[in-house]
Amino acid sequence: MDSFIIHGNFVHSKNRFVLEEINDMNLVVLNNKIDGFYKTIPECFKNLEYYDYSDKIIIPGLSDLHVHAPQYQFRGLWMDMELLPWLDRHTFPEESKYKNLDYANKAYDIFVEDLKKSATTRVCAFATIHEEATLALMKKLEAAGLSGFVGKVNTDRNAPDILIEESDVSIKNTLSYIEKSKEFKNIKPIITPRFIPTCSDYLLKELGKISKEYKLPVQSHLSENLSEIEWVKELVPQSKSYADAYNIFGLWGINKTVMAHCVYSYESELELLQNKNVFVAHCPDSNTNLTSGVARVTALLDSGVNVGLGSDIAGGEDISILSAMKNAIKVSKLNKRLSHNNDGSLLFPEAFYLATKMGGQFFGNVGAFIKGYDADIVVLDDSSIKTTLKSELTLKERLEQYVYLKSSDCVFAKFVKGRKIED
Ligand code: GUN
Ligand code: FE
Repeated sequence: MDSFIIHGNFVHSKNRFVLEEINDMNLVVLNNKIDGFYKTIPECFKNLEYYDYSDKIIIPGLSDLHVHAPQYQFRGLWMDMELLPWLDRHTFPEESKYKNLDYANKAYDIFVEDLKKSATTRVCAFATIHEEATLALMKKLEAAGLSGFVGKVNTDRNAPDILIEESDVSIKNTLSYIEKSKEFKNIKPIITPRFIPTCSDYLLKELGKISKEYKLPVQSHLSENLSEIEWVKELVPQSKSYADAYNIFGLWGINKTVMAHCVYSYESELELLQNKNVFVAHCPDSNTNLTSGVARVTALLDSGVNVGLGSDIAGGEDISILSAMKNAIKVSKLNKRLSHNNDGSLLFPEAFYLATKMGGQFFGNVGAFIKGYDADIVVLDDSSIKTTLKSELTLKERLEQYVYLKSSDCVFAKFVKGRKIED
């Protein structure tokens, strides 16, 4: 169990609209959890390890609610297609390489090393259909000190032969990966049907049963692209919406559920998101790169839906959730100006809230400096931003400038569940 003190200036979300600054304070972490802020250190804590980050910006750890680890090698490449041809042309061929464990090890080392240096402390990641490579990724993330979920992907139709599993083999391998991942403490399994087009009704139903029996969360994609939505209507004609296609097979709302994108989730689909308490992973970079459209984030929030941010590597190019914050704000402004709805644009405190306190709820009590929360803490160094205004800026403004200018920089220090991440 780790206990320590961090001295410095802190920013976190009080709620959706309000960022709180806590300046010149000592944050006490006891047994890996946040205890509280103290102006002077009480006698009983005097012997605890002490970190002084006085000139830095200290924020809670960020959550990436949607990332494809096996797509990291082609980040920043090949984004001139929409979703379905992009999957066929680029994504499936790359993911098929993970059958080879040597390739997977090499590629996942690169992914985990970069994730470790980022401001992300929690991930909800897709791996591939390959059990061995998926377990290798889990092992590397655990060894790096990170926390979250990694899904072995399920696919039994509409993909290249090399990425299709026979339905019962897919189920058997999923059960085996669940069993073998018991050795990990901070990285857990998650049920991961890739999306409706690549999963038969039978497979979806069986995965729903596994989620229920093993009390496992579920992740997938929803209403990302117009051609995809049309295809789902043909594939599951009995469903009332794309969302309903997951729901009728028992995949929604039994345990924690997160759906990436939801660009076209209106009316009955929105109602289902609300009723089943489904988290939406908003992925602004991917929405833009794959010309998918823009998720109506403020409308989702106004409807009471939980929203977090996702990098959606390699639909998105940047592993940084600070970058996703910045781009979530930008695309919301385009949505406001260009679409004929009454949506507002996202404010900076709202984007920060999605990345920390709201997205963090998918993992438990994560993403704020509140007593009893897991001590996920990130220290940012803004000394390389030269401006004559520095002494006039509030900590919140320094953070905003950091997000816009330095989102892809390595963090100065990072703690996950109260454990310091070492280089
Ligand atoms: N839908 C199904 N698979 C994928 C994927 O790998 N990336 C994105 N962005 N959408 C998907
Ligand atoms: Fe995705």
